[in-house]
Amino acid sequence: MTHQRRFSDAELNVTAYRLETKHPQDVLAWGIEQFGTEIVLASSFGAEDVVLIDMLHKLAPKTPIFYLDTGKHFPETLSTRDRLQERYGISFIQKLPALTLEEQAERYGDKLWEREPNLCCKLRKVEPLREILSTYSAWITGIRREQAPTRANAKKVEWDEKFQLVKLNPLADWTQEDVWTYIRSHDVVYNPLHDRHYPSIGCSVCTRPVMPGEDPRAGRWSGFSKTECGLHK
Ligand code: ADX
Repeated sequence: MTHQRRFSDAELNVTAYRLETKHPQDVLAWGIEQFGTEIVLASSFGAEDVVLIDMLHKLAPKTPIFYLDTGKHFPETLSTRDRLQERYGISFIQKLPALTLEEQAERYGDKLWEREPNLCCKLRKVEPLREILSTYSAWITGIRREQAPTRANAKKVEWDEKFQLVKLNPLADWTQEDVWTYIRSHDVVYNPLHDRHYPSIGCSVCTRPVMPGEDPRAGRWSGFSKTECGLHK
């Protein structure tokens, strides 16, 4: 499906400017008002995503939420998913890659992530994301500017050129501390790996804990120059 662009770049810029000083909940409320059932939250069940899940539950509990199921998530991530489903009475949309892990191994060889992490991310995350986003007009993500130089210019509302839909980053200006203050004060369910030195969590085969003083994303694709898997620019 190709989307009819509902907002020009100029209109989105004005909205982003207006929402810049607003609370994440106001950004979510704008998205829900504009896009109704055509907006979706992308969740990997990390700290930012559970904050957004909690906020959405209070604001518009029927908003669809999906996760890209790479087949290589940590068991702790999957149990966080289950606890969230139980807490909020929601069922997350599971988006699977075109190939099972076995089919991928047959076609590309075993442990593709160790040899070509970019290709593995493309097959198991980026292409499935492209497919699911093609059925929506806007998506919500948990990215924050301080997470990485590649995210430093993220706006609270922007046009996603890569996937051709509106992108909302309600937590763009939040710090890690803001995220944890929210989680604690609202008693939000979170991935227990965060308490074990995993500030940023992806697939188990491509994520390690970080050492004191290391960048929070240092545990992602450690040993490779890779810093993004391609979901965000
Ligand atoms: S990644 O691109 O490096 O993997 P990161 O883990 O920082 O991303 O998460 C940033 C945001 O991308 C999350 O808040 C979420 O919106 C989205 N995201 C990341 N991984 C997934 C996933 N497996 N399924 C759905 N959304 C995801």
